[in-house]
Amino acid sequence: MTADGAYREDGEGRIRVLMKTEESFEPPPEFVAQANASDPGIYERANEDPEAWWGSWAEKLEWIEPFDEILDWSDPPFAKWFGGGKLNVSANCLDRHVEAGNGDRVAYYWEGEDGTRKELTYAWLHTETQKFANALKGLGIGKGDVVGIYMPMIPEAPVAMLACTRIGAIHNVVFGGFSAGSVVERMQFSEAKALITADATMRRGKPTPMKASIDGTLDHVESLEHVIVVNRGDSDPPMTEGRDHFWHDLVDAADPECPPEPMDAEDPLFILYTSGSTAKPKGIQHTTGGYLTGVSATHKLVFDLKDDDIYWCAADIGWITGHSYIVYGPLANGATSVMYEGAPNFPAEDRWWEIVERYGVTIMYTAPTAIRACMKWGVEHTQKHDLSSIRLLGSVGEPINPRAWLWYSENIGGGRCPVVDTWWQTETGAIMISPLPGLTTTKPGSATVPLPGIEAKIFDEDGNEVEEGAGLLVLTRPWPSMARTLYKEPERFVETYWSRFGNDVYLVGDAARIDEDGYFWIVGRTDDVINVSGHRLSTMEVESALVSAEGVAEAAVIGVPDEDTGQAIFAFVTPEGGVEGGDELEAKLRDHVADKIGKLARPKHMAFADDLPKTRSGKIMRRLLRDIAAGNELGDVSTLRDPEVVKDLQEQVKE
Ligand code: PRX
Repeated sequence: MTADGAYREDGEGRIRVLMKTEESFEPPPEFVAQANASDPGIYERANEDPEAWWGSWAEKLEWIEPFDEILDWSDPPFAKWFGGGKLNVSANCLDRHVEAGNGDRVAYYWEGEDGTRKELTYAWLHTETQKFANALKGLGIGKGDVVGIYMPMIPEAPVAMLACTRIGAIHNVVFGGFSAGSVVERMQFSEAKALITADATMRRGKPTPMKASIDGTLDHVESLEHVIVVNRGDSDPPMTEGRDHFWHDLVDAADPECPPEPMDAEDPLFILYTSGSTAKPKGIQHTTGGYLTGVSATHKLVFDLKDDDIYWCAADIGWITGHSYIVYGPLANGATSVMYEGAPNFPAEDRWWEIVERYGVTIMYTAPTAIRACMKWGVEHTQKHDLSSIRLLGSVGEPINPRAWLWYSENIGGGRCPVVDTWWQTETGAIMISPLPGLTTTKPGSATVPLPGIEAKIFDEDGNEVEEGAGLLVLTRPWPSMARTLYKEPERFVETYWSRFGNDVYLVGDAARIDEDGYFWIVGRTDDVINVSGHRLSTMEVESALVSAEGVAEAAVIGVPDEDTGQAIFAFVTPEGGVEGGDELEAKLRDHVADKIGKLARPKHMAFADDLPKTRSGKIMRRLLRDIAAGNELGDVSTLRDPEVVKDLQEQVKE
């Protein structure tokens, strides 16, 4: 239990309910006076005619051919937005700003962990993108081909993404913190033709090998023809003749002009794998026109973006937050952003605040986990720096506990900035439920209300709308940036999201509560997904990693509340006969999971027993595991096959 949170069970015992605070905050009058959205009538107008609303945002983009139909929802859940329209994402993010005379405008103030600083202008991005697009073309990569991206937060990462969009290739970014196993699997599932990576990633002052770490496994990806390697760390990575190329060699030789490929609005833009209820991750597929409309509109409205803002989304490009609010939303809007390569506490705990002061950051967007880490490090680090440039704060990725919300507002926002708690998902592409900072009264811990044009509801188990109370969060109207399918798995797409309440109701996978003011309070996942520091992990994925380790007979994994990371992974493991459970095996298994999935998936807690609590029919009783982990009194355990194992586990948890 967190300091200000209370937990309630959902029958499965896994729902966390944030305690309601009585406090609410009106938007500050100075903010309202200058806000992009200050007319409350936009909600009504957008909700009366959502197509006209989204159409008006789409029209702000540059179309090669105009669309002739806003929405085709005749075959739900497969929506078609902006039919007949043709556009190119990189042209919208780069060319039109350069053509408007803004080539010298800074797109990113990039800061390396080692202190290197670069000002990447729109003109620079434009040229580099075209060169790299030509390099890809030169390797035979074109429209519809899948290109993997496994990169650190370096300037070449957005260039790689934009270059794919320029030629109509579909990028598939894998978070740099995932391991070789996760990269290879995602390349195999998507049949990637090329992979872009770097020799090393800088972490805590040291280059950590990236290319070398995946090199041995790449042979397992049959479709892979080319690997392109950025030299970030001068670390002399292994290179396979004919397959592997250095980025700089390709780009130096490339023509600087590459016309943008006209793409249909519904052509795939990218896929991004995310965890689901099974061990196999889901390839969320987004399309060109709808996605760009959604992210540009929400970026402008939710972050109240102005020409002179310095915007900083401190996420990683490898997650949807990075795709939508580091790359595509900000660039489509011609924003000036900060992009930081490394750890928030390197070389010291004030690194972030030093960055805010140096660039005069005005809008800051981060995750509750990061906010809680900063709270823990202490205000002395924030107080060392002038943070008065900040005018708006955002939060994303997991429910923010009121105490962290208030700390953020007070210590980073100086009590003068609106806080936007933005709820959305990889699948939704763009923010769905969030305050509009010039309009919405906020309540710490609540993402407040759906954005104009978005319709969210709470349903009970039978699909009846809950007017006030808790239940399953659903979205009941299509929106432009909605996922169109799961890559190569349309049936799984329908089954996962669109079958529970009919094919026109999107089942989110989160439980939420709606209060008397119609405010949404996100409670947590209802599927077998654990949210660790805002990172989605599936229990099945971790379980299958554990049982693939030598000496493990069986494993069950649950999410438990954690003060720092929101949730943490608790693994219950049965060693094979003759294998001793204990610290040594625990350390080995943590390393094994890091190897299989990535460090972020390592269980924080582990307990060993000769068997797991099972019913007589052999089903693992996860509810009981949750109670054991929480140290709760256990009710009737007489239905267990072997009640003794429970005692054993309880002892270990106590320790
Ligand atoms: O459970 C919700 C939680 O994160 C899930 C989506 O994870 P992902 O696709 O990785 O995208 C994260 C970044 C958008 C959601 O189903 N979540 C995200 N934002 C919030 C949140 N939970 C509560 N409040 C939020 N603001």
